[in-house]
Amino acid sequence: MNCNYLAFEGIDGSGKTTFIEEVSKELIKSNIGFKIVREPGGTKLGEGIRELLLSHDYRVDPTSEALLFSASRAQLIEEVVKPTIEKGEVVITDRSAYSSVAYQGVGRGLGYKEVYDLNDFAIKSFWPQKVILLDIDPEISLSRQKVADRIGSDQVSFFNKVREGYLELADEFSEKFLVLNAEDKQEENFTKVSKWLNLAKP
Ligand code: TYD
Repeated sequence: MNCNYLAFEGIDGSGKTTFIEEVSKELIKSNIGFKIVREPGGTKLGEGIRELLLSHDYRVDPTSEALLFSASRAQLIEEVVKPTIEKGEVVITDRSAYSSVAYQGVGRGLGYKEVYDLNDFAIKSFWPQKVILLDIDPEISLSRQKVADRIGSDQVSFFNKVREGYLELADEFSEKFLVLNAEDKQEENFTKVSKWLNLAKP
């Protein structure tokens, strides 16, 4: 394994969970200690913020939304991510600050750079080392979703913007992003992931 802080990114319904499970199995086989975290959430404070953000009960202005996501993230990085990495273990994160750049920055229109900078402050520049982006047409991913949270139940046009935001990030940070077509055969994608992360062959 050639990194210790790995993020999975993609629009709602892109299939991150399956990929995280596959990578976990490989790490167990290779005897590598790791922890899986999710954003928003992963700490007691973060899970409270998650409920505020994803419940259908609150009206959330885009700026409040960006600040709440970054608050949950600031807590997670200090309380869990850094200590885990300091112990010599790997952190696999289901979403990261890159989600905010794509969803709040581009999707909500708060600005790519503005939301990047807000998050850079929140996480004290502690960005994931590598990112696997599951790219997919929103029409397809949304039809896969069973129950949608407040953000996941937005319009296709919103997710098209989020997708563009992700592709812009992958372009700017091409050295740390692996972009997969989430509609390709899963096995082919898993092989690409294993090679890219230098995981042992099963
Ligand atoms: P998640 O629990 O990963 O849901 P899913 O499994 O559907 O991808 O994320 C919850 C929602 O929050 C999802 O719609 C994406 C959104 N989100 C943002 O808008 N900004 C962020 O910074 C993060 C972390 C998530």
